[in-house]
Amino acid sequence: MILPIVAYGHPTLRMVAEDIDRDYPNLNELISDMWETMYAANGIGLAAPQVNKSIRLFVIDASVYVEEHPETKDFKKVFINAHIEEETGEEVAMSEGCLSLPGLSEDISRKPKLLIRYLDEHFAEHREVYDGFLARVIQHEYDHIEGVLYVDRISSFRRMLLKGKLRDISNGDIDVDYRMIFPNIRRKVR
Ligand code: NI
Repeated sequence: MILPIVAYGHPTLRMVAEDIDRDYPNLNELISDMWETMYAANGIGLAAPQVNKSIRLFVIDASVYVEEHPETKDFKKVFINAHIEEETGEEVAMSEGCLSLPGLSEDISRKPKLLIRYLDEHFAEHREVYDGFLARVIQHEYDHIEGVLYVDRISSFRRMLLKGKLRDISNGDIDVDYRMIFPNIRRKVR
């Protein structure tokens, strides 16, 4: 089932998400709905807070970028209870977009390498090092479960320039071809 994606300004995007255990209700169904929702919106990652669930769960399949980034080829992963233990290296800027902020993209600086521990969909433990493009996608999704959005990482000057666009997104005054929940939508008074 395709779930609606919450837009910028929604309070769930601002919560630090909680770890879950195996008993989390309908987890397999939620994961499969998140895949379906992500693919339908042409995303390469989706975090549970974006479908209005404040839990530490995100999914990534960036293989549409296999030409530019061959390491994405067989990388289709579910991250549960993820915790980044370490980020290293000199910060690198790369363009990022987000399904909760349709129509926007910004260059975001992040450290290029990370060490992350997480559980997969079978609750098997992993502790892995990533760098480059995959690290970037993981950092973006990881931000979501920490209540952070990429626009928090731009300069206050850039954010000021984007203020009107951000307001339009929260108000639902945008064209978007997937279902969304807009926090500030209201009936237009004439
Ligand atoms: Ni995002």
